Amino acid sequence: MLNDTLEAGRTLTDAALERLLPAASRHPTSIHSAMRHSVFAGGKRLRPILCIEAGRMLSGSLPDGIEELGAALEMLHTYSLIHDDLPALDNDDLRRGRPTCHKVFGEAIAILTGDALQTQAYEVLARLRCPATARVRIIEEIAHGTGTIDGMIGGQVVDLEAEHRKPSLETLEYIHRSKTAALITASVVSGGLYAGADEDDVCKLREFGQSTGLAFQIVDDVLDVTQTSEQLGKTAGKDTAAEKATYPALFGIDESLKKADALVATALGSLDSFGKRADTLKALAHFLVERKK
Ligand code: IPE
Ligand code: IPE
Ligand code: MG
Ligand code: MG
Ligand code: MG
Repeated sequence: MLNDTLEAGRTLTDAALERLLPAASRHPTSIHSAMRHSVFAGGKRLRPILCIEAGRMLSGSLPDGIEELGAALEMLHTYSLIHDDLPALDNDDLRRGRPTCHKVFGEAIAILTGDALQTQAYEVLARLRCPATARVRIIEEIAHGTGTIDGMIGGQVVDLEAEHRKPSLETLEYIHRSKTAALITASVVSGGLYAGADEDDVCKLREFGQSTGLAFQIVDDVLDVTQTSEQLGKTAGKDTAAEKATYPALFGIDESLKKADALVATALGSLDSFGKRADTLKALAHFLVERKK
């Protein structure tokens, strides 16, 4: 049942990405090949899937064209991964089971590929097939979630600055909520807005996104310790080697997983008023902490 949701969401998102990204043969071919190298490398597509299912919950059926919003979110997420892997940031050679963008195309093109995916995402968002008021709110929500104030870039900055020192719980939570939960929250909220969510719905979706998003990054930290590079498709054990601020480093694996479970319980509670219609999003919340990669 959940497998069907994951599979259908992935297929829908991939078809939209295929349509919306320039062909690799398009001039200048190096950057278009690099964009496709990183996007079509076997990502889980969790942000688009969360977005699509939030939209479906709100409207009762699949909102027409929502996969384009999902594709834009995946472009932004992929841009964040390309930059996260650069030598100046986490310096990783492996991503989604492939050599990282800068390993294949060089550092300059990898930087520009991240920039290009971000630019392309906003072009797609500006053309979304929903009312203009919703479109503007979606763009604001996503720009904020990926920005410097409690957003992805802010979190990445503090993540780098927290290396090689023992962080306070407050700093650790700030990093995880900003670098990861903020884009996951923007995915769920924007999916709801696309489907006509009112302020009350947005509040509940935001609470759901914040809790599941933090749980998601806690589990990412745990998997870095417990899985192999082959299982993850990215270099395992990197966080310990780089002395990153992580939940397992501060609390150990068992306690970290307990915290992730408690966050999922909170997330489920924020959707209770949606009744049965929330079942798929709730199942996805469980999947986010039970995943093995
Ligand atoms: C990895 O995200 C980066 C984090 C924010 C932890 P995912 O685990 O969703 O990576 P892909 O998209 O499946 O490759
Ligand atoms: C990255 O966190 C979050 C992003 C904004 C990309 P990590 O550095 O832990 O992600 P991985 O483990 O390299 O995927
Ligand atoms: Mg990082
Ligand atoms: Mg990293
Ligand atoms: Mg990680």
